Amino acid sequence: MPTMADERRDVIRILTIETTCDETAAAVVTDQLEVLGTVVASQDEFHQKFGGVVPEIASRAHLERILPVLDETLKKAGVKLSDIDAVSVANRPGLAGSLLIGVASAKALAFALGKPLIAVNHLQGHIYACRIAAIQKRQSEKQQPERDVFPCVGLIVSGGHTSLYRCRTPIDFELLGTTIDDAAGEAFDKVASMLGLSYPGGPSIQRASSAGNPNAYSFPRAMLNDSERLDFSFSGLKTAVRYKIAGTGKADFSQIRLSEQETADIAASFQEAAVDVLVGKSVQALRKTGMKTLCVGGGVAANARFREKMTQAAEKHGFQLHIAPISLCTDNAVMGAIAVERYRTGLFESLDLDAFPT
Ligand code: KG4
Ligand code: ZN
Repeated sequence: MPTMADERRDVIRILTIETTCDETAAAVVTDQLEVLGTVVASQDEFHQKFGGVVPEIASRAHLERILPVLDETLKKAGVKLSDIDAVSVANRPGLAGSLLIGVASAKALAFALGKPLIAVNHLQGHIYACRIAAIQKRQSEKQQPERDVFPCVGLIVSGGHTSLYRCRTPIDFELLGTTIDDAAGEAFDKVASMLGLSYPGGPSIQRASSAGNPNAYSFPRAMLNDSERLDFSFSGLKTAVRYKIAGTGKADFSQIRLSEQETADIAASFQEAAVDVLVGKSVQALRKTGMKTLCVGGGVAANARFREKMTQAAEKHGFQLHIAPISLCTDNAVMGAIAVERYRTGLFESLDLDAFPT
């Protein structure tokens, strides 16, 4: 029986690999940005008891999972390795040991198949998720192409990064501002841990917040008053929450008992402050650059309050907003479809490709 792959010989299929942090992921995508198959193996269960990602555990888990994930991805996509036209991997930025597993796997596959090897930037991939979603939406609604999402201001808001970029093209980014201490996702994870909520902290804080009052406590919104500077800071917010929970002395959070309502109110007030800063700095970046489109990606962009307040800001300030769909916010290999941009112009790598943590 002919497979889907046999019927569509004209299509370019790229096998994308993502192992920058703690998700082992692979996908088969086409040059038309169709997703033929995608698999994400999360490691949350391993990192849970530490309240954050442990690099050594992450790289070992990638090593154990990468081959089964690749097998399952090809199976889901209904293609054989011989149907693949190129292999791509996110080789920056990320945890050194984690990146190396993806890079070594991609190099081995590209060599064995005699196909081009493509390297992509994980952060650019988070923003590219917005283009993938916009194109898929148009294809499913059979609409004429509207304006592309690029050029845009890009906000990447994840566990390791909180940065604003001027994105001229999918692969030409200029940094406008970044966090000077914690990333927003890191703050969600640490505050969740102080509140005794499970890892990853973002979804737990969101759940707890639903029963809380976002105005119960007035937590700081750092950097919002300085519209010239597009940096972020979340450590003061984290410390303010710590003081609210445990006072200013040394704290053993396992001994602190908050009522359900107190937990919900602190979670909601923290979430509100973090979201206000992310929305406010993005609006300032749009104003400063004169750009009219904002694309947002990264795990924290899955947050419901963030999506709601950003949508309100877009209506109020009149900019085009593209937030990656929730399934493409946290790390995945579909966003590795950005490799298509490099495939088209022949931007291939040699087999001595390295991993770049920063
Ligand atoms: O993009 P991502 O999967 O990995 C990195 O590249 O860091 O982001 C993970 C981060 C974690 O800190 C997690 O707590 C946060 O995204 N996150 C959320 C939500 N879902 C995930 N933060 C707030 N609200 C959420 N619903
Ligand atoms: Zn990420």
